[in-house]
Amino acid sequence: MVSADFSVNSGAVFTEAIGNDRLDLLTDYPFTRLANLLAPITPRANVAPVLLTVGEPQHTPPAIIEETLRAGASGWNKYPPVGGTPEFRAATGDWLTRRYDLPAGLLHADSSILPLSGTREALFMLALLAVPTQKAGRQPAVLMPNPFYAPYEGAAVMAGAEPVFLSATRETGFLPDLDALTPELLERTALFYLCTPANPQGAAATPAYLAKAIALARQYGFVLAVDECYAEIWLDAPPVGALQVAAGLPYADGKPWSNLLVFHSLSKRSSAAGLRSGFVAGDPALIGRFSRLRSYGCAGMPLPILAASTALWRDEAHVEENRAAYRAKFAAAEAELGGRYGYYRPAGGFFLWLEVGNGEEAAKRLWAEGAVRVLPGAYLSRSNPGEPNPGEAFIRVALVQDTDTVAQACASIVRILG
Ligand SMILES: Cc1ncc(COP(=O)(O)O)c(C=O)c1O
Repeated sequence: MVSADFSVNSGAVFTEAIGNDRLDLLTDYPFTRLANLLAPITPRANVAPVLLTVGEPQHTPPAIIEETLRAGASGWNKYPPVGGTPEFRAATGDWLTRRYDLPAGLLHADSSILPLSGTREALFMLALLAVPTQKAGRQPAVLMPNPFYAPYEGAAVMAGAEPVFLSATRETGFLPDLDALTPELLERTALFYLCTPANPQGAAATPAYLAKAIALARQYGFVLAVDECYAEIWLDAPPVGALQVAAGLPYADGKPWSNLLVFHSLSKRSSAAGLRSGFVAGDPALIGRFSRLRSYGCAGMPLPILAASTALWRDEAHVEENRAAYRAKFAAAEAELGGRYGYYRPAGGFFLWLEVGNGEEAAKRLWAEGAVRVLPGAYLSRSNPGEPNPGEAFIRVALVQDTDTVAQACASIVRILG
């Protein structure tokens, strides 16, 4: 059972077992673990700390946000509808159709899109939608890449499923090997979280890979959730999306999106993590059920934020500026790190996934000797029985600061880690 400490007015402290014991199956969140790891260390260097841990772009957010929030201020006194506004659905539907070259009219925005107050809460809530009591007479499985975005595991565990960690290493192209999934596992799979471009490795799934994942979801009757929140941060070519691939596959009964949901966010695309704005799109049957579930449990996206988000999804100029900034940062990082720590240029996203021997030790040294804060790879991954933790030897470096800061931090990494 879970134990909690209660402070009462008398000053007495007592411990009582309460609550949902599934929570005990989770470790602390990666950034809490990092805070605990680094708390005893005072950086020696007399320099300002450089935070390269959280995927929180520090670019100036587009002016559109402030303008539209001010113009829409009369909406703050209204509860927002779970489905958002028709304008928001149209803007995101149009964006998906443009970005992924979908046949005109194939995506019906009103039945296929829901706004999300950031994708994290909905990626988490999705497991409550997708995980039944049993699947194929057994405990349902939720598949995810390893390493992975922490809420996938939290969602699986809290929904009563078994999280299954699929190695995504250099050997597998940094994505799970779909050919290694056994029928025994797939039969009890309720939900599969895929992330492309992947956090942390930046690998992008090919059309063939996504087509295979979609086919498996349909054959075995599970929900395929494709987390595409880094889709707009790319260096050379826009990564393909799951809806784009689904649109090109044969489908029956006018249902191109069966079993499929994709998640998109403004946090990275528009450097607006604080806006808490994203959306989910795909299978109208799942969207309808998700809408019902969300009526009970979601925060809803406030009307002014819906208006700001609508304007952002209709604007590409600020996104192109962002991409140019990331290109400059990757060039600066490559100049310092190229040829070391297995450096490679990721297909998408803004992370470096560097092989440094021991990620925790490296994170401690970088903080102690250079005031550079990075995340040990092991905090994003799990050990499967008999296998090494695929993140143990790595650090994740988020290129979220400006180019000069990134260049200096990368020089510090080389100086300190050798
Ligand atoms: C892979 C991945 N998915 C989803 C999210 C959540 O983004 P948000 O809740 O800001 O939309 C993040 C944020 O870091 C992420 O890295």
